[in-house]
Amino acid sequence: MKILKFPENFCWGTSISSHQTEGNNKNNWSEWEKSEKRIKELKKQGKNPDNFISGLACNHYHLYEQDFDLAKELNNNALRFSIEWSRIEPRRGIFNQKEINHYKEVLLALRQRNIEPFVTIWHFTTPIWFEKLKGWNNKKAPEYFSFYVKKIAEEFGSLVNFWITINEPLIYAFLSYHQGIWPPQEKNLIKTIKVIRNLIKAHKLAYKIIKRTSFDSKKHPAAIGIAKNNVYFEAYKNKPINIMLKNLSDYFWNKYFLNKIKNHLDFIGLNYYAHNRIKFSWEKPNEWWDKNENKNISDIGWEIYPKGIYYVLLQLKKYNKPIYITENGIADRKDEKRSKFIVNHLKWIHEAIKDGADVRGYFYWSLMDNFEWALGFYPRFGLYEVDYRTQKRTPRPSSKIYAKICKENFVTH
Ligand code: BGC
Repeated sequence: MKILKFPENFCWGTSISSHQTEGNNKNNWSEWEKSEKRIKELKKQGKNPDNFISGLACNHYHLYEQDFDLAKELNNNALRFSIEWSRIEPRRGIFNQKEINHYKEVLLALRQRNIEPFVTIWHFTTPIWFEKLKGWNNKKAPEYFSFYVKKIAEEFGSLVNFWITINEPLIYAFLSYHQGIWPPQEKNLIKTIKVIRNLIKAHKLAYKIIKRTSFDSKKHPAAIGIAKNNVYFEAYKNKPINIMLKNLSDYFWNKYFLNKIKNHLDFIGLNYYAHNRIKFSWEKPNEWWDKNENKNISDIGWEIYPKGIYYVLLQLKKYNKPIYITENGIADRKDEKRSKFIVNHLKWIHEAIKDGADVRGYFYWSLMDNFEWALGFYPRFGLYEVDYRTQKRTPRPSSKIYAKICKENFVTH
């Protein structure tokens, strides 16, 4: 048996986000979850709308100390969470000091446990006033966002060494503005492009603001990155048409955004979940996307494809930046596949490190079960199971495996 050792000071962590765990948020998502349109849509599909309303979620807002103890049990030395913009700035230009203090407590609770916080500034949800002003589709959106960023950089700067500006910009733009699945449920390519461009601007502005603020406070400047969802695209049988479509998808999905922001980036956060085999056919010329074999899938039908992370990491090498895997995880209610999933991905990450990718950390998604956006509470991504009626957390067997890896800093092969 071979021991695959990870670099010294490797960050071993888990990831969560505000809307998915905190409970009682009042933002564009909470409004949408309860909207007549959404409820009708779910009932039509024969689903119980209650399972799709975030409500109290994991009550992490009040149970964060207990949850950070669970991260400690996993031997995590890092944790990624997000700040909820709608709590900090519930009305345009008006900040809520009580909520600012809350997140200070959250950051201190991590520091007390020797857990390095990786703080996401924006993870999909926006204040209601922002959404009313056309959300990310408004050309002033980056400016509105930077007002919030400046405030949190000033308030939390001394407690944060790692900032993640935006979570998965393309996933958001496509699901919200192109496929009409997430609020505001638009299907408009022009708006999608506008949103992407505004997110690029917002990232760059945030980068400059945080740099300036951390220099002003004479502190060791914070590292600023993004959490980018990249996919391993593969051309079926290497046929020329598949290769062409693959290159196109690869450029747009994996490279375009990063190329635009690469001069405003201290590290890359990679969220890896997917392999996408491109297979064109003349019978169904529009259906060439996502033609995977799907031999091994998660509870929500996502193909498990650990080797893909190796290719995605090698592709990121050219940016010459440190890389943190800011998300990688599986919906697996019975916990039958999770341990193997983690170990196999780590093997390929190790291989990528051997081949020159500067990977410095791994964050499993997620610490505990949580609200999985449009899929509601059904998918179970957690190392800890959550009973949503009692808010009890129970470790799944895979949590022991992950805790051992985090402690030993190696996996065996
Ligand atoms: C998101 C998370 C989400 C996870 C699993 C990522 O797209 O950042 O919020 O829960 O994937 O779907």
